[in-house]
Amino acid sequence: MTQSQKLDTWTTSQEEEDRMVPGHMHHWQTMIGHVRERDLRHKTILDFGCNQGGFIQMLFNTMPFARAVGVDIAEGSLAKARARNQFAPADFFHTSQLPGMANTFDMAFSHEVIYLLPDLHAHAKDMAQVLKPGGVYYAATGCHTDNPRWADWHKAISDYSNIDVPHYALDDYAGAFAANGFAVEAKQFRSDGFIGVEPDDKVYYPTLIDKLNYYSQTKILFRFVKV
Ligand SMILES: C[S@@+](CC[C@H](N)C(=O)[O-])C[C@H]1O[C@@H](n2cnc3c(N)ncnc32)[C@H](O)[C@@H]1O
Repeated sequence: MTQSQKLDTWTTSQEEEDRMVPGHMHHWQTMIGHVRERDLRHKTILDFGCNQGGFIQMLFNTMPFARAVGVDIAEGSLAKARARNQFAPADFFHTSQLPGMANTFDMAFSHEVIYLLPDLHAHAKDMAQVLKPGGVYYAATGCHTDNPRWADWHKAISDYSNIDVPHYALDDYAGAFAANGFAVEAKQFRSDGFIGVEPDDKVYYPTLIDKLNYYSQTKILFRFVKV
């Protein structure tokens, strides 16, 4: 079942939390570009692990949808999402509200969330419950044990995370969804355009080629279709 844990923010540092919004914009744009369904005007959308709601706003500005729900375990982030959303027809709830939304969504998204979940099978079951038949779930992550830098990343993320960070292989994500009623597809994320070079890159990418290889090879976008 969906986690009922409540946090203020998933990071121990508000600075880390706030940096994620501008830091992820470019990647949300790439993710939206990969979406095969191009007309969302009549679609109901879920953003799982919505944080401060930035992805939902960008999606609405790029491809307007009928209605969206963002869920997260972090109440502080949800409060910011509600305050910041001015245009999108969206509501933001704690994840514990999800079980009441059975058979509600045409599409779901999660960007860099599934690597933090304690039970992938429970998550796949929850998504199967809230998606309509034929519903599609796009989930992106570069956090997995097939990432050659994962040991260092796991330590760096664990240092600022209020959540225990599991160790999942890409096959664990794929296997959990295949076992719970989804057809599974995957592709390399391949961020569009130029990748910014940032002062604190060295924590995650010792060299620039590590960063470029991460975005072209290691970060993965799954497409899970409820069959
Ligand atoms: C790395 S952040 C990514 C946030 C956002 N999707 C983005 O792209 O910027 C991970 C998010 O997942 C949320 N999260 C962690 N565990 C969760 C869970 N069990 N259920 C729902 N959200 C969760 C965190 O609170 C945080 O907002």
